[in-house]
Amino acid sequence: MCGIIGYAGHRPAVPLIIEGLRRLEYRGYDSAGVAFVQNRELVTVRAEGKLSALDEKLASCPNTVATTGMGHTRWATHGIPVERNAHPHKANDGGLAIVHNGIIENYAELKAELAAKGYVFHSETDTEVLANLISEGRKHNATMLDAFAWALRQAHGAYAVALTTPEEPEVLYAARLSAPLILGVGTGENFVASDIPAFLPYTRDVVFLEDGELVRIDANSWKVMRIADLAPVEKAVNHIQWDMQAAQKGGYKHFMLKEIFEQPKVITDCLAGRVDWNRMEVTLPELAALPVPKRLHIVACGTSYHAGMWGKHLLESWARVPVNVEIASEFRYRDIILDPADMVLVISQSGETADTLAALRIAREHGVKVAGLCNVVGSSIAREADAVIYTQAGPEISVASTKAMCSQMVLLTLMALHWGRNTGALSETVRANVLQTLKKLPGQLETVLPAMRDEAQVLARTYSKAKSFFYLGRGHCFPLALEGALKLKEISYIHAEGYASGEMKHGPIALIDPDFPTFALALNDELFPKVKSNIEEVQARRGKIIALTNPGVELKVDHPWSIPDAWGPMAAFLVLPALQLFSYETADYLGKDVDQPRNLAKSVTVE
Ligand code: F6R
Repeated sequence: MCGIIGYAGHRPAVPLIIEGLRRLEYRGYDSAGVAFVQNRELVTVRAEGKLSALDEKLASCPNTVATTGMGHTRWATHGIPVERNAHPHKANDGGLAIVHNGIIENYAELKAELAAKGYVFHSETDTEVLANLISEGRKHNATMLDAFAWALRQAHGAYAVALTTPEEPEVLYAARLSAPLILGVGTGENFVASDIPAFLPYTRDVVFLEDGELVRIDANSWKVMRIADLAPVEKAVNHIQWDMQAAQKGGYKHFMLKEIFEQPKVITDCLAGRVDWNRMEVTLPELAALPVPKRLHIVACGTSYHAGMWGKHLLESWARVPVNVEIASEFRYRDIILDPADMVLVISQSGETADTLAALRIAREHGVKVAGLCNVVGSSIAREADAVIYTQAGPEISVASTKAMCSQMVLLTLMALHWGRNTGALSETVRANVLQTLKKLPGQLETVLPAMRDEAQVLARTYSKAKSFFYLGRGHCFPLALEGALKLKEISYIHAEGYASGEMKHGPIALIDPDFPTFALALNDELFPKVKSNIEEVQARRGKIIALTNPGVELKVDHPWSIPDAWGPMAAFLVLPALQLFSYETADYLGKDVDQPRNLAKSVTVE
C-alpha cells in the first residue's frame, strides 16, 4: 500500500503535492518522492524516510515553477526502503517517470525481457520495470498514451499508476487495476490520487475510476478511457461531503473498523504472485533456499502468537512438520534446545517487537536458520532474518491488530501447502480444497462483513454490561478463542479469558454464573459434538452463551450467531472478523478510544 497524487493546474505543483502526500502518509511512510517537468527536463526528487526528509531535500532545489507534477509516499513491497527504491521511477531514457501503488506480479519475466534488450535497472522495484516497459512501448506506438496502455496490457497484478513525460509537460496520465485511484475535478485544475483527502482542500467533486480505466488530465480537461482499447468511458462526477478526518479513514469511524473491512483485499494481496491459479500451485520463493525443517519453532507475541498457534495445526497436519509455538518473552529466557536442522519462524506485524527480535538473535546464535513473517518492509526482524516473507497487508494504524493476523494466517496456510508438497505429506484433496477455498474467500468475506457487523452490534449492546467473558474453542478454534478474548479486553477493558473448551471443567467453570457469559466457537466440524457437550456444561451452571456457528447446526443457546461455512480450518477466516467486530462494537458502544486503547503501543520495542 502506497499513496499517489498527481496534479495539473495553475498553482505551483510541488508544494501542493507535498501537502497532498502528507494527507496520504497513513498509506505508507518509508520513503517519498516527486516528479515534474521543468524547462522540458524531467526532474525527480526522492528521499528515504518520512516526508520531512523529502521536504528538506526540496528546500535545497532551485525554484520549481512547474504547475503539473506527481508524488508518492511509499510502503515498500519490493525492495528495502532506501532512496533508490523510492518513487517516482524514471525510464532509462528519461522520457517518462511513473509513481505506482500495487504489485506487478509478472515483473520478474518482464524485467528479464527488458534486460535482454539492454535496459538497466537501478532499483529492486517492479515499478522501474513498468517504467521501462512503457519506454519500450513508446518506440513502436504513436503517442505516450498508446505506449502507456500497451504496457499496462502486459502487466499482471494490481496497480494505480500515474505518469508524467517531458513530451507533454502539462499533461498527466493515470490508470488503475485493483488499487484505488480517484480523479478530483477542480476549476482550472484536476487531480488524481489514491484517496480523496489528498486533494480535499481544493475540490469535493470526484470521479471514481474503475479497474481497467485510464485517465488523461490537464488543467482544463479530463478524459477517462478503457486501457483495453482507449475507447472513451462516460463517468459521473460525485460531490462528496466528508470532513478530512473521516476521509482519511475512508469514511469509517475508526481505523480498526476500516482495517477489519480491508481483510478481503488483504487476502487477495497476500496471495498475489504466490499462487498459480491455473496450475493450482503455491510458490514461496522466499523459502526456496531453506530445507524443510526437522522441527519448526514459531516465536511471537500477542496476536501474532495466536496466528502462530493456529498455523501449527495446518503445518503439522498437512506438512507433518513438528511445530512448537512459544511466546517470545519466554523463549528468550529459557534454556532452549535447538537442533541445527530446526528452523525458527518469528512472526511480527511491526518487525520491531523487542522480545521477538531478541528471540531471533538467540536462535541465530544457536546456528539455526530464522525465517521472519513480517508486515513492515525493512524492519529490524525483516533485515536480520535469514529469509523474510512479507505479509503485504498494508500499514496497520489501529493499535489493536486485525488485518495483520488475517495476513499471517494466509501465509501460514501457504507455508503448510509449500512444505506439505516438499515432504510429500500433503494430499491432493487437501491442496485442492484449500486453494479453492482461498480463491473464493475475498468475495465471500466481502459479502458477509456488513451483516456480520450488524449482528455484532446487536450482541455488543446486549452484553456490554458484562464484567467478564470466557471465549471457548477447540482444535484450530482454540487460538481464535484466545484472540477473541485478547481483542475484547484490550479495547473494551472487559476482562476476558480464552480457554480450550475441554479444559473448562478443570477449574475455570467454577466462575460461571448468569452474569459471566461465554462466547463459544461451535463450528460445524468433527469437534462439534465435543464443543456442544462443553457448552452444555456451562449452561448447566446457568451461564449465558453466544455461539458462533454455521447454518444447519443444531444448538440451543441464548444467542446463536450463524456465519457461512468454509472448508476445514479455512473457516478461521470467517470466525476472525466476527470476533474482531464483536470487540469493536462493544468498545465503541462503551465509548472507549478504539484506535488508541489505554496503556498500549502499536510497536512494543521494550521488554
Ligand atoms: C494485539 C496486538 C499485540 C501485537 C503484539 C505483537 O491487538 O496488537 O498483541 O500483536 O504486540 O506485535 P508484532 O506483531 O508487531 O510483533
